[in-house]
Amino acid sequence: MAQKKALPKLFGVLGYPAKHSLSPRMHNAAFKALKINARYRIFEVEPAKLRSFFASLGRRGIAGLNVTIPYKQTVFPYLTAATPEASMIGAINTIKVSSAGLRGYNTDGEGFLQHLTKDLGFDPRWKNIAVLGAGGASRSVCVYLCKAKPRRIAIFNRDRSKTIDLVHVLNMHNTGIEFIAADTVGHLRLEDADILVNTTSVGMNETDPSLVDARYLRRGMLVYDLVYSKKSTRLLEDARRKGCRTANGLGMLLYQGMAAFKIWTGRTPPKKIMAKAIGL
Ligand code: ATR
Repeated sequence: MAQKKALPKLFGVLGYPAKHSLSPRMHNAAFKALKINARYRIFEVEPAKLRSFFASLGRRGIAGLNVTIPYKQTVFPYLTAATPEASMIGAINTIKVSSAGLRGYNTDGEGFLQHLTKDLGFDPRWKNIAVLGAGGASRSVCVYLCKAKPRRIAIFNRDRSKTIDLVHVLNMHNTGIEFIAADTVGHLRLEDADILVNTTSVGMNETDPSLVDARYLRRGMLVYDLVYSKKSTRLLEDARRKGCRTANGLGMLLYQGMAAFKIWTGRTPPKKIMAKAIGL
């Protein structure tokens, strides 16, 4: 008698909305390449159904999740444990489901740091860093940048109370790094910054302006915009015109996905295949 084929393990991205995620392409390509019997899909779950969704994970055979807007902060109560970094960031983007329960991770900051060091050849050690934004993405990026021991991190956010909170958390866990809660873009110390990172959502819409006056951009500075939803942003266009090196968030997306893949499967992620799947 022919043996029944095991059901594929199920993975996916939990969000609302989540329709435009590139993650299904990236992970399904990786599963296929490594001949892993698994599927990755989108779980678009409205807030009122979040609790029942988590109660159904076992029944559905879900072994891992990515988490996106608006649930990165709200999933904490459903977890058995979270990594120290994810707790410090206060946001989860990856969950591993096992017999031990649900463990939460944040691979966004790791993805950013890996892209920066491995593909862009930028070592943050002793560097001066300027960051736009103090939301979830900024917290991920800043917590991981601190691991690389930069000289200074200056942060500007429209809502200054979030900058103050973030600087407070970073200060508590790190010594030897100067933190600045800038009250304007002009106070980000861009005159001697080695890298400027935009972690805000400004730039996602074609008509969005840049938060930084182009006169602050200099040759020799790396300008990294986490936005990747369209080809370029006003900030990156200005930066290119000024002779800066530039990068968008696609590389970070790739590396955060690779880190999640490793957490779920224990296997080395097939980088080239995953990159190709998201158009890199
Ligand atoms: P994410 O997880 O992507 O970081 P978030 O936590 O909602 O999402 O953070 C969004 C970031 O974009 C915040 O830094 C936000 O600034 P505020 O905290 O002041 O709201 C920033 N942002 C969004 N729209 C903006 C705008 N029009 N001008 C300046 N900053 C903006």
